[in-house]
Amino acid sequence: MERLLFVASEAYPLIKTGGLADVAGSLPEVLRQQGMDVRLLLPAYQHVLEAIGPPALVAHMEVEGMQLRILSTYLPGTKLETWLLEHPLFSHRPGNPYHDPQGNPWPDNADRFALLSRVAAAIATGQAGLDWRPDVLHCNDWHTGPAIALTHLSERRPRTVFTVHSLAHMGLFDRATFDRLGLPAHFWSDSALEFYNQCSFIKGGLVYADYITTVSPTYALEICDSPGGMGLEGLLRQRRERLVGILNGIDSQVWNPATDPFLEQRYTPQSLQDKALNKAALQATLGLAPAADRPLVGLVGRLVEQKGLELILPVLGEILASGVQLVVLGTGEHRYERQLQAAAAAHPDAMAVALAYDESLAHRIEAAADIFLMPSLFEPCGLNQLYSLRYGTLPLVRAVGGLADTVVDSNPQTLADGTATGFVFERPDPAELLATLQRAVALWYDQRQWRQVQLAAMAQDFSWQRRANRYMQLYTAPV
Ligand code: ADP
Ligand code: GLC
Repeated sequence: MERLLFVASEAYPLIKTGGLADVAGSLPEVLRQQGMDVRLLLPAYQHVLEAIGPPALVAHMEVEGMQLRILSTYLPGTKLETWLLEHPLFSHRPGNPYHDPQGNPWPDNADRFALLSRVAAAIATGQAGLDWRPDVLHCNDWHTGPAIALTHLSERRPRTVFTVHSLAHMGLFDRATFDRLGLPAHFWSDSALEFYNQCSFIKGGLVYADYITTVSPTYALEICDSPGGMGLEGLLRQRRERLVGILNGIDSQVWNPATDPFLEQRYTPQSLQDKALNKAALQATLGLAPAADRPLVGLVGRLVEQKGLELILPVLGEILASGVQLVVLGTGEHRYERQLQAAAAAHPDAMAVALAYDESLAHRIEAAADIFLMPSLFEPCGLNQLYSLRYGTLPLVRAVGGLADTVVDSNPQTLADGTATGFVFERPDPAELLATLQRAVALWYDQRQWRQVQLAAMAQDFSWQRRANRYMQLYTAPV
């Protein structure tokens, strides 16, 4: 049986700040179900240790003079053996994995994720004193990039795969930090981790992995060019034949309107009329006017520039004037939070904003809304539009990255041939967003056509099973 070590900085439901957790919390379990011998390696954040039952001890380790323990638990709701790296850098730190309550990165993030990377590399190269050694090491995003580079110091190197969930975070640290970490001196080179006189953790994965994957085919193309490559396009072009775009799947048990425990009323394509009960419940909960005759627009996500706030805010007044109600759930940059809150205060019947991280409310918005707004500037894959499709909540997206790969615009032709699943616009222009929303609203009033598009959206298959096979092929592809 092939052995896989899958390493990430977050995994649902133990610890989640975004889509990476959704992927790390579902893909490894599907790979296990398909016959691989999988271990998921995560930091034992304080929050994680508090959330689980007593873990088993796998091993004591010493890495660069640091004493640590590997603990074992199961990812809740699965049979996936999950190893937790316990060290005070993680385990004595409450709150967000990456930043303090003010939003500033933890000052020792380089040390923390270098430690995660070293432990992953030690396990992967058989230097951790364990009787389990993987054939494949699969790392994700900048937090684990150095692990892939470090395996190259060993002669017993496993196959390596590195998945880019976003190039926007590169794990950049200055020279003094690089020196403090004690990484091999030759890593400070343009052909290794150095990036414009800084140390870039993500380059460890991009330079050294046998295969690089990104989370959608279109994003794989975008990052080989400017501006999507964010300065790494040259390197990615060089490695193009080792770069593969594999669209993310979704956990179809967690995100299933027929069984979702968070919903006021569960529904299926056959009982789609019941979706309206979720809308009424949400309107009541959030203090919106109880309007069944107006489309409800939902937005769930990080309130940051990437998610297209600069396209929404200039036309927010017009959006509300077009007769829709708007619900926003998210946290992020204070300037966006403040502007959204002010707009909601001025239009209490039509707009509600929850500045929170709230799993239950995210599910209830997906079920209640008619239209899901996701006009991202860039989007490596995006999961919310996939959840929206499954919930019959038509996504309105910009044609970038995974959004372009997963949503089919409603136009006369796609409506006629039954392939329409949402609304898509091209240019990052608030006026285009507004015009597209007005198109969506007009279609909503044609309930027969709307229902047809909803059914087409709900019939899309975004389950992991097929996509997991693509990863399994890479794990054995020639290098
Ligand atoms: P990204 O990873 O770039 O933030 P994705 O669309 O891939 O974007 O994934 C975001 C995930 O985080 C989704 O599962 C979404 O429901 C969840 N999420 C984002 N913000 C919130 C929030 N404020 N409350 C609850 N869930 C949230
Ligand atoms: C990143 C990307 C998002 C993607 C997620 C999971 O957070 O921003 O587009 O869906 O990773 O791969």
